[in-house]
Amino acid sequence: MSRKILVPWAMPDIGKGVLKKAKVESIFIHGPKGELPTLHELIKAVKTADVLIPRGTQPTPRKVVMANPNLRGIANYGVGYDNIDVRAASEFGIPVTNTPGVLTETTADLAWALLMATARKIPQAHEYTLSGQWKGPGGKAFMGQDIGPGGSNKPKVLGIIGLGRIGQAVMRRSRGFKMKVIAYDPPIKEIIQKMKGVEYRDLDELLKSSDFVTLHSPLTKETRHLIGKRELDLMKPTAVLINTSRGPVVDEKALVSALKKGKIAGVGLDVFEKEPRLYPGLAKLDNVVLLPHIGSATLDTRGQMAVVAAKNAITMLRGRKPKNIVNPEVYHSPEYLRRVKG
Ligand code: 8YV
Repeated sequence: MSRKILVPWAMPDIGKGVLKKAKVESIFIHGPKGELPTLHELIKAVKTADVLIPRGTQPTPRKVVMANPNLRGIANYGVGYDNIDVRAASEFGIPVTNTPGVLTETTADLAWALLMATARKIPQAHEYTLSGQWKGPGGKAFMGQDIGPGGSNKPKVLGIIGLGRIGQAVMRRSRGFKMKVIAYDPPIKEIIQKMKGVEYRDLDELLKSSDFVTLHSPLTKETRHLIGKRELDLMKPTAVLINTSRGPVVDEKALVSALKKGKIAGVGLDVFEKEPRLYPGLAKLDNVVLLPHIGSATLDTRGQMAVVAAKNAITMLRGRKPKNIVNPEVYHSPEYLRRVKG
C-alpha cells in the first residue's frame, strides 16, 4: 500500500505541484469554499494517512494525534504551531515541522500596515468618507498618533515584545520613521543587549515608555495573557497596541475594558483569543482596527509556505529528517525508530 499525505484544507496549487512532482499520493479534504473538515472528519481521515499537513491555526489536538500514532510526521503550514499538540506528537515519536523564514517580511509588512492604520485611524476615516458623512471642512478630524517625529520633532518609542525574525523585520521598517526601538524577549536578552539600534527593557519599563507596543512572541505558557489589566494600566494613554502574533497573548476582557476607559489610545489586532469570535464589545469600539488573521496572506508567501510544508511532509514520508523540526528530541525516541524501521 502506498503511503499518503493528508491535506485537510485548500492548499495553494504550487504546494500541490510539489506533492504531485514527488509522486506521492495525497488526500485533499475541504469544503467547496475551502471550509475545513470538522474534528470528527479530520480524525477519520488521519487514520488513513502517513503524514498530515494541517493549515496553520487548524486545531490538531491530542485526539487527532492519537487517532493515528503511526504518523510519520506533521508538517504545519504556518510558523506558529500552537494549533498542534506537540507534546502528544512527541510522546508517539512524531516529528512536527513549521514554515519559518518565508513569511517573515510579509507578516512584518502587515504589522506595520496595521500600526499605521490604527495610529492614523485609516479604516475609520475610509468608512466616514465612503458613507457620505464627510460634508467638507469642520467635519470629524480623525486626529491620530504620530509614527514619525511629528510637528514637535520628538522621535516616538517603538516597544517590540518578541524580537525573533518577525520582530526584527518590524524593527527594520521603523528606521524610516526615526523611532527609538526598545525590546523585551527574555530568552534572547543577552543577544538583544549586543544588538545595534535597540535597547533591552524589562516588560514594565517597555510598557511605560512605548508610544507603540507590537507583539511578536509565539504563544507559550509564559506568553499567554502576557498583556492583561496590570500591563495595560502601565501603558501611556496615548499608546497604540498592535498584535499580529497570537490572540491569547492579550487578555481580551482586560483589553476591551482598557479601551473603553481610554487607558490606551487604540489597538490593531490581526489575531484573537477565540478566532473567529470577537470578544463582546470589541467590534463596537471606535479605536480598534480588526483584521481576520491575514499576516502572511499574500499569494507569493502563502505559496512558499505551502512549498515548504509540502517538502517537509515528503521528507518525513520518506523517513528522512526534514528542515524546521520543532521537536527534534523525537529522533532519539524508541517510538520514532521503531516506526521508521517498520
Ligand atoms: C497562518 C500564521 O498559519 O504562520 C503562522 O503562524 O499564523 C499564519 O501564517 C496562516 O493563516 C495559515 O493558516
